[in-house]
Amino acid sequence: MRVPTVAQADIASARAGSRAASKWWRSLNGSWKLRVFDTPDSVPSTATNAVLNTDAWQSVAVPGNWTLQDTGDLPHYTNVQMPFAGPPPRLPDRNPTGVYRRTVQVPANWSRNRRVVLHVGGAESVHAVYINGSFSGYGTDSRLASEYDITDLVVPGENTVAIVVMRYSAQSYVEDQDQWWMAGLHREVFIESRAATHLSNLRCDADLRVADGVGQLTVTSSISFADTPERGWAVRTTLETLGGKRVGQPVVAAVPHAFYRAYIFEGYRATAAFEVADVAPWSAEHPNRYRVIVEVLGPDQTVREVHAQLVGFRHVEVSNRQLLVNGQPVWIFGVNRHDHHPTRGKAVTYDDMRADLVLMKQHNVNSVRTSHYPNDPRLLDLCDELGLYVVDEANIESHAYNTSLCHDDRYRSTWLARGSRMVERDVNHPSIIMWSLGNESGYGANHDALAGWIRHNDSSRLLHYEGASFHAGWGDGGRLATDVVCPMYAPIDAIVMYGRDNLGDRPLILCEYSHAMGNSNGSLADYWDAITTTPGLQGGFLWEWKDHGLTQTLPDGTKRFAYGGLFGDTPNDSNFVADGLISADMIPHPAMREVAWVYRPVTVSAAKRKNVVTVSNRQSFSDLSALRAMWSLHVDGELVQQGELEVGACNPHSSITVPLPCAVPDGNHDIALSVRWLQRRASASVGAGHLVSWDQVVLRRARRARAPKPLGRGDVPLTPVERLLTQPVSLNLWRAPVDNDGFKLTIDLSKQIRGLGPALGSWMLAGVHTRPADELVQHSVERVMSEDQSVTYHHTVQVPAELADLPRVGVMFQLPASFSEVRWFGRGPHENYPDRKSSAMREVWQQPIDSSPYLVPQEFGLRTDCSWFECIDKRGRVVRVESVGDSLLHFSATRHTPAQLFEARHDSELVRNSDLVVCVDTAHRGLGTASCGPDVLAQYRLTPGTYRFSYRLSVRSGAPASDDRKR
Ligand code: GAL
Ligand code: MG
Repeated sequence: MRVPTVAQADIASARAGSRAASKWWRSLNGSWKLRVFDTPDSVPSTATNAVLNTDAWQSVAVPGNWTLQDTGDLPHYTNVQMPFAGPPPRLPDRNPTGVYRRTVQVPANWSRNRRVVLHVGGAESVHAVYINGSFSGYGTDSRLASEYDITDLVVPGENTVAIVVMRYSAQSYVEDQDQWWMAGLHREVFIESRAATHLSNLRCDADLRVADGVGQLTVTSSISFADTPERGWAVRTTLETLGGKRVGQPVVAAVPHAFYRAYIFEGYRATAAFEVADVAPWSAEHPNRYRVIVEVLGPDQTVREVHAQLVGFRHVEVSNRQLLVNGQPVWIFGVNRHDHHPTRGKAVTYDDMRADLVLMKQHNVNSVRTSHYPNDPRLLDLCDELGLYVVDEANIESHAYNTSLCHDDRYRSTWLARGSRMVERDVNHPSIIMWSLGNESGYGANHDALAGWIRHNDSSRLLHYEGASFHAGWGDGGRLATDVVCPMYAPIDAIVMYGRDNLGDRPLILCEYSHAMGNSNGSLADYWDAITTTPGLQGGFLWEWKDHGLTQTLPDGTKRFAYGGLFGDTPNDSNFVADGLISADMIPHPAMREVAWVYRPVTVSAAKRKNVVTVSNRQSFSDLSALRAMWSLHVDGELVQQGELEVGACNPHSSITVPLPCAVPDGNHDIALSVRWLQRRASASVGAGHLVSWDQVVLRRARRARAPKPLGRGDVPLTPVERLLTQPVSLNLWRAPVDNDGFKLTIDLSKQIRGLGPALGSWMLAGVHTRPADELVQHSVERVMSEDQSVTYHHTVQVPAELADLPRVGVMFQLPASFSEVRWFGRGPHENYPDRKSSAMREVWQQPIDSSPYLVPQEFGLRTDCSWFECIDKRGRVVRVESVGDSLLHFSATRHTPAQLFEARHDSELVRNSDLVVCVDTAHRGLGTASCGPDVLAQYRLTPGTYRFSYRLSVRSGAPASDDRKR
């Protein structure tokens, strides 16, 4: 394997880097003929013949997954289990096998004294190549390219390329990642003509000498000679800025042409070394790059071909339990990313990848784990360019046979090939700071063999392998295979114990945490409180970036996103594939606001001293000058004053205090200062004015409102507001379970494996979902009418010990359909929950009614810590609910009852209530992450005992709700 590089004729073309402009390169992307057979054995031998009438065959797009291109062979989703019975290397009786065919014109000069190479970017799972009917070779890793020298098989003019792709193979057992099983040629295909003597590899090792800021670069150019190596070849290597300004002097080095001293011969390689004083280092914050130009010079000193490679100078090491980049600790604000597109599947385009990464940067993500395989190399170019640290992961996951294949000699070379080829391909990327040996494949000798190879080949990066941490222990285990302790889904107290009690000398970086399935990511801020205050903890990678929903057209023509099972795929793991922070079509779920907040580069908090706030810079290499801080003062949630905050110089990883920009008004009010940091100048990923960070500092809390003067108690007549309700106020203990409460779609399966999920199981047993709330708990309510025709409800609820850990304690009522907007003084503007609310500031917000953001319907739309909220209709009727007494209220206003949400198995089945369903809670269970990870922490659960809460209901007329206000 080599780094992806294409020869150009001159320096200008090499800089421009357009492969398509080269006369020696031709894309084979586009329409191919395809026929899918049931098994490899049912493919007739003629199918790969040079000449064949394929009129009856389908036309499909390459790159593409045939499972998404109307072939009748559909995607299949499993998590741990294999989609067919084992053991390895047994294959299913039906093993769809596609034959792809197309013709390609090979110019006569391509093979005259030159080599013709076919590049197959990625095929799931394995493929065999036939050129003009002759077998050329066989490739296995579905997520790395295979290249074939087809010189001897092609003829000038028209040629036939046939690629046979088998959906399942012995390799499937090490490609058992939690994702859709697809099939087909999902990455690019091209052919290339290489000169008889050409540059066969170009490796750039760029480092930063931290002590004096000197950049050190070694460029190793490998030359391939056609037959007998020839005397007189040389390589001229130049380093320049991206603008084309030369840095240092070009280096000309001769290429050894013979094994003349075989004993010390190292290969047909020319190296060039550079030292750059005051180099602009590469980091995710400042992704500075330089360009290496390599000219291959023939014996006559003429330039035969030119290559360009972008490089970045940066240094990675572990010191003192910290991962350092360029000598500085960096927070790993990470996410796990799979290749996924709702219609293209695994065949993501450059624009798809760029859109993912830009959206990450807009949410303060600074690191990506390429879970669980090497991505298209252009993704790494983008990470280099935009500034994201990368954990590059080998395509090895034997999850169903977790602890056996890693020792299995039949798979030993598989391990080695997959990891080493990834390193060889990707080694030039400054963004990569760790090599990952794969995922969920136990821990065995095969891992250590691969680790040894990588350490020898590239000692400049760290190794990462979760399985070594898991199976050999965090303290001192698995050192051969991992330089970081990188557990998945570890609870907060466990990671804190590791750091606080000094249980190991390696930094702990969670390779996966905070499982984003459905309405989730509870306690994200608690994780970050722990991480930022405990030595040895440095961050982690959220699971995961995107839902893997696939566009599916229903018989009536409507479209939806499918999860496992909806293609008739069995066995399957249903909606476990929909566990992303954004939907399959890139709409951020509400938790993304919390992600952006916990990952923010600058924080503002209350200081010990009065009249100042503390500003902390969490970046490693930047001051705050790229951001503009805007403050606003809110009295009872209403904006009363605002301006720009003068912030003095604040170095990376340091804090300063800043005086309050305004006086704090007197009186019994809620008073808070919000600070919003806006991007000053547009960058490649973030526009000018983009909201980067935000915080709110509470300056004073109001004493709670007292109940209004009563006019009547008990059996008073209905007040005007109550006459408006289409469903009266009733006690409500039920929420449509979120995925973390239990998997409603796989209740039988969940019972077998892990019980219903602790929460959902006990709720269903107790009948919380079916029985009237008043039967489950003791409840008394008193209505008190006031002179102003408002009515105050006083509730007392006794929750018995058997009903510990209820979803909520509150009430529900409904308003006419015309109510379409809400206004509130509480946390917002986005949905928030007791354990996912740090990003939501308490101000007065106004919005149209939320629609359900999750693929599998579940509880959504809560706003916590409200003093009051109002529902507004098109006629300007304003129904107001105001907390009375000590506690604040949580509310949601949606078009769905909890019962309707629970009933629906898919967003497409969700019944829309015409009336507005309003829930008001005094207590609401947190979200936790128990779909895969720790459940709701004790402090966010409902304990048995007495709940007293009061609120006042009223109606007035005001400004009508607008139809078209944007969210
Ligand atoms: C991890 C695994 C991921 C994914 C996740 C759950 O165990 O590494 O691939 O399955 O759990 O969504
Ligand atoms: Mg797995």
